[in-house]
Amino acid sequence: MGFFEILALPLAPEEASSMAPEVDRLALFMLLFSAFVSLGIAAAIVYFAIRYRRRPGRAVGAPIEGSTRVELLWIGIPTLIALFMFGWGAQIYVKLATPPPDAMEIYVVAKQWMWRFQHPDGQKEIDELHVPVGRDVVLILATEDVIHSFSVPAFRIKADVVPGRYRTVWFRATRPGVYPLYCAEFCGTSHSAMTGSIVALEPARYQAWQSTGVATGTLASAGEKLFEQLACNTCHRGDTQGRGPVLTGLYGKSVPLRGGGAVIADEAYLRESILAPEAKIVAGFDPIMPVFNGLLGEEQVLQLVAYIRSLGGAPGRNPRPASEAP
Ligand code: CUA
Repeated sequence: MGFFEILALPLAPEEASSMAPEVDRLALFMLLFSAFVSLGIAAAIVYFAIRYRRRPGRAVGAPIEGSTRVELLWIGIPTLIALFMFGWGAQIYVKLATPPPDAMEIYVVAKQWMWRFQHPDGQKEIDELHVPVGRDVVLILATEDVIHSFSVPAFRIKADVVPGRYRTVWFRATRPGVYPLYCAEFCGTSHSAMTGSIVALEPARYQAWQSTGVATGTLASAGEKLFEQLACNTCHRGDTQGRGPVLTGLYGKSVPLRGGGAVIADEAYLRESILAPEAKIVAGFDPIMPVFNGLLGEEQVLQLVAYIRSLGGAPGRNPRPASEAP
């Protein structure tokens, strides 16, 4: 039961995720604090207006010279309160920006005007996402066209999805139910229709739902097929004789770059290396790879990335692009 719900005030949507009560506590504190200050100032204005009104013989007020002590107090106390709220908010922000390890991963592709979800075992959904209650779920979001914003008020999460990069956001549903999903960024004519729902199910019911779905092969297996179709395997071979780097065991490792420096082979780097290979050439190789920008959709890129991930990599690495904070 959340604070807004105890007050029976319909000020906020249902609290249906592990982070929702924390976000609401801060929001409630700021609301009450603002109300206290606003009402206090209003009351003081009324009181002083009456108390010091103009009366016969008191038309001119006494001069006030100011007081350093009072000045210090009204600068110091609000500063401390503001810093307290900042620290509280920053702590929640960091929690929301750090997906827990071992979270279940779901890929999301936004597109005018729909949300496409892909479960790791291959199940696909449009404008509806089924998740188990009590399990950490991390969404890896990409957009096919313009900026969209993935917003689930009941979970207190909102993430802008910007073209050309991956964005992650996580939640843990705490109550079974159907929660509205909105696009919270104006993205064209049918922006307002770009809605959907998150269906949180008890684990047993989730399993039942999962087994009824038609899995059309995993993301990685689709990626493997694509890898062959695009003839990536002629250069990226299993042995070290290929003209491109070996991809086996690459994911999550540090890659030395031509011209110095290194980069972690995370999802963002793999994506960039597929779409714009010349951006960061691996040391010891020539910039000969064709550019796939404009030739592949975001879903196909996700498939290729999933395939490369399936070839193994650094152990226990949380597959998050470290550069992406909400
Ligand atoms: Cu997508 Cu608004």
